[in-house]
Amino acid sequence: MDALRTVTPLAENRSSDFAQCLTDGLSHSPKQIPCKYFYDDEGSRLFDAICELPEYYQTRTETALLAAHAGEIAALMGRDAEIVEFGAGSLKKVRLLLNVVRPRGYTPIDISGDYLMAVTETLAAEYPNLALRPMVADFTAALAIPPLPGARARTGFFPGSTIGNFKPDAAAGMLRRMRASLNGGSLLIGVDLVKDPARLHAAYNDAAGVTAAFNRNLLARANRDLGADFNLDAFAHYAPYNPVARRIEMYLISQIRQSVTVCGRRFDFEAGEAVHTEDSHKYTPDSFAELAARAGYTLRTAWQDDEGLFMLAWLESA
Ligand SMILES: C[S@@+](CC[C@H](N)C(=O)[O-])C[C@H]1O[C@@H](n2cnc3c(N)ncnc32)[C@H](O)[C@@H]1O
Repeated sequence: MDALRTVTPLAENRSSDFAQCLTDGLSHSPKQIPCKYFYDDEGSRLFDAICELPEYYQTRTETALLAAHAGEIAALMGRDAEIVEFGAGSLKKVRLLLNVVRPRGYTPIDISGDYLMAVTETLAAEYPNLALRPMVADFTAALAIPPLPGARARTGFFPGSTIGNFKPDAAAGMLRRMRASLNGGSLLIGVDLVKDPARLHAAYNDAAGVTAAFNRNLLARANRDLGADFNLDAFAHYAPYNPVARRIEMYLISQIRQSVTVCGRRFDFEAGEAVHTEDSHKYTPDSFAELAARAGYTLRTAWQDDEGLFMLAWLESA
């Protein structure tokens, strides 16, 4: 396990941060919980289960695009590349790149620390010659990533349409900070495209109820980590598509009038009251190119599936 000696553990995703953000968010009107807290160990496993759902076209479409275009991507990344992945999750998609690009090093960054370390250990066993430097960190911050000896160009990888979880202004600022962390290097990014609202609605309202369980995991996590007393059955998953704002909006709706205690504080919910938990913005190729330009990036190449569901874009510093 030599490769993992370079681990850079940062104190992120701590219970004290969660307690502060949760009590702040529940004091806000309308109530809200930041979506990064979906991802503890259980949340990461539930997200992996979402990726396997028949309704969730995003993962299989993006994976097919990566497999089909890995050779072109390898040519763009060049020799002795260093790949930095933001919100790395299960590390399944990056294997398609590692096998073809054969980079010198790989830095997966994720806020879900235990899960990141577990999946990185498995990857390290499969790729013993790869310099692996997992970072438990919040990718929205300006991250100082130490130089990797022998690497020529640093390239970012940001799949999963995670960019959609940020409002456009915040997304532009975050892409700008990522560009700085990459020392101006290119970014390969997955973008979910505007499409038939029914298709989008199905993807976030699966028949098996896995997305609902993922959404409720915020409350389950508060019970586990903070000793809160949310009754999970008293909150319903609600995830409509807003076609004007072009985003899925995810909520937990209180089914009854109720009170919940979190960190010794009481929070009251009306019957029907919403807690906003996530947005997932959708883009057209043009609206995404405009967003990238605000961050100092030019969209040089993009690949889409035949149905135009999803786009994999290669951004270069303008
Ligand atoms: C939508 S999932 C995508 C996972 C994977 N990249 C994929 O394509 O399947 C978002 C990932 O980003 C991580 N994440 C979410 N917010 C984060 C943040 N602020 N900082 C670091 N990681 C974050 C989550 O833990 C999760 O692994």
